[in-house]
Amino acid sequence: MAGKDLICVKNLKRYYKMGDNIVRALDGVSVDIHEGEFVSIMGSSGSGKSTLLYILGCLDRQTDGDFLYRGKELMKLHDKELSYFRNQEIGFIFQSFNLLMNASVRQNVELPLVYCHEKKRNYRKRIDMLLNAVGLFEKQNHTPLQLSGGQCQRVAIARALVNDPDMLLADEPTGNLDSKTGMEIIEIFQKLNEAGKTVIMVTHDKEVSQYSKRIVTVHDGLLLSDETVKDQMKAKSESLNQFDTKSIFSKKVEMGTKS
Ligand SMILES: Nc1ncnc2c1ncn2[C@@H]1O[C@H](COP(=O)(O)OP(=O)(O)OP(=O)(O)O)[C@@H](O)[C@H]1O
Ligand SMILES: [Mg+2]
Repeated sequence: MAGKDLICVKNLKRYYKMGDNIVRALDGVSVDIHEGEFVSIMGSSGSGKSTLLYILGCLDRQTDGDFLYRGKELMKLHDKELSYFRNQEIGFIFQSFNLLMNASVRQNVELPLVYCHEKKRNYRKRIDMLLNAVGLFEKQNHTPLQLSGGQCQRVAIARALVNDPDMLLADEPTGNLDSKTGMEIIEIFQKLNEAGKTVIMVTHDKEVSQYSKRIVTVHDGLLLSDETVKDQMKAKSESLNQFDTKSIFSKKVEMGTKS
């Protein structure tokens, strides 16, 4: 069930200067996203989907316009504050996984905790839980090169969840996967969303968008349409029936930060 405003975007613009030309990647987008929503961002290639997602994920800043997160103007944060905010509040998942190829699965999942200087003994149990949740506990000492695409994306999801963010952003998360493997990823997103996470996913795949609750379409840097999905499809794969959302929440207890 959608709750309070999480994101308020008003007249958002992102321009790139290319020699004498200006590319208007976003040219005045306004959209509100509530807590607990599962939104697909659609649109043709070059329409501005990734640009919008990167700004929402604090990986980029707008040229103009407002972006409020829980009423807070993130543009005003310094780079260091913004990085900390991103580390704590946002999980970002990329089409090409963006894993460290020479590090183990476990080290990849640990990475956001290392950046926020969490003590190692505090997070061992939490990493175990996450690896179990995405079905990769047995493969924790492998490197991404030894995994399938779907397994790599599950490592990326575990890494995105390690700090228990409120919001998960994914740019074409199924784009490099076959449709069956893609469905496993969508099923994880649906389970996370049912457990209360806000999920925003860029996809160009109409079928994939039917598994979300709302579809926002952009075109030439502008919002073209915004519609509710009438009958949200339910993803069901057999291979991931062990995915257990309960075990990956309550970070404070698991990390031992209470003691
Ligand atoms: N760093 C950049 N410098 C210059 N132009 C850019 C840059 N990043 C994006 N653009 C331009 O901004 C527009 C929107 O790009 P964006 O990556 O957001 O599109 P997209 O909808 O994600 O496309 P795709 O479906 O191909 O991933 C495009 O015209 C693109 O060429
Ligand atoms: Mg893109």
